[in-house]
Amino acid sequence: MVNVPLLDLVAQYRGIKDEVLRAVMPVIERQGFIMGPEVAQLETEVARLSRTRHAIGCASGTDALLLPLRALDLAPGDEVITTPLTFFATAGAIHNAGGMPVFVDIDPASFNISPRAIEAAITPQTRALVVVHLFGQMAAMEDILPLAERHGLALIEDAAQSIGARRNIGGTWRMAGELGTVGTLSFFPSKNLGAYGDGGMMVTQDEALAERLRRLRLHGGSRQYHHDEVGFNSRLDTLQAAVLLAKLPHLADWSAARARNAARYTEAFTGHPAVCPPQVDSSNDHIYNQYTLRVPRRNELQAYLRGLGIGTSIYYPLALHLQPCFAHLGYETGSLPVAEAATESVISLPIYPEMTREQQDAVIDAVLAFYA
Ligand SMILES: Cc1ncc(COP(=O)(O)O)c(C=O)c1O
Repeated sequence: MVNVPLLDLVAQYRGIKDEVLRAVMPVIERQGFIMGPEVAQLETEVARLSRTRHAIGCASGTDALLLPLRALDLAPGDEVITTPLTFFATAGAIHNAGGMPVFVDIDPASFNISPRAIEAAITPQTRALVVVHLFGQMAAMEDILPLAERHGLALIEDAAQSIGARRNIGGTWRMAGELGTVGTLSFFPSKNLGAYGDGGMMVTQDEALAERLRRLRLHGGSRQYHHDEVGFNSRLDTLQAAVLLAKLPHLADWSAARARNAARYTEAFTGHPAVCPPQVDSSNDHIYNQYTLRVPRRNELQAYLRGLGIGTSIYYPLALHLQPCFAHLGYETGSLPVAEAATESVISLPIYPEMTREQQDAVIDAVLAFYA
């Protein structure tokens, strides 16, 4: 039996151990854990990668959403349109910032929010859009941006799964997070650029917004012990910034290795009567945080693979509009059918860069054998 975990961070660590320890030991030696120089250095590097003027580290990808949503000063009844097929944090942050999540359906090909569905849901109460670049592939920003502009809406790009992803718009490559009011990143360990704990970052071109976000992460104060507004304790740890600085030079290679693994899977599954590989919009450079198939008898396949020692995951088994905590919003089963159908059929396979050919062949053979 070949053991193929969904993700093998130990394999990654083996390859970069010396670099990581060289980066974190000076922080420990000087006992400088809070807002050390590594945080600003990482912010500079991530702003360069995202082609934004500013990057502001924070405690998690969840807070990276919460802080800019808080900066909108939402009033009761203000609506924020988002996708139901995403990690819970996207909608949880809208709620916790005082907004009302409005869920709209997705595009069946890309799994990303449908621009037409956004347009149909805009009301006089709409204040913002939170667009998720799901699994590593950017949403149709060229269709969404004009909607935000026309209706005067803030546009938040949740790029937690898409650091370094890009989309060709009118002949120019645009980075995830470059075009919105703000882009948000997560350094959760399973992301393409993962910390050794929690971490996040916000990127923006807007100087005034950047200043406000810098304050909001430090209890709303620009000077210590002086508070212009009530904010949060949401700093990016210096130790995490040091880890991320050591890992960042590898990010492009890791994402390229994921894309090569994706190409091998897709070659093996294309044309199969049951197994439907992910569809990549030809305008997109996909970074494959996840490689997500659509299949019949999904739960049986997952159990079969588990029995062979192959790890998989379901992103996501219950769409957000049907979560018990959002029952008061009044959505019913069937209200967002494309997203609901996805939750019944998606399964994500191991795609991590260190996966060997032998391991990947075992996954491919097992999937094909299940449907044979
Ligand atoms: C789409 C999306 N948004 C937000 C988050 C929240 O990030 P974090 O776990 O760093 O708080 C995640 C990941 O975990 C995510 O995948």
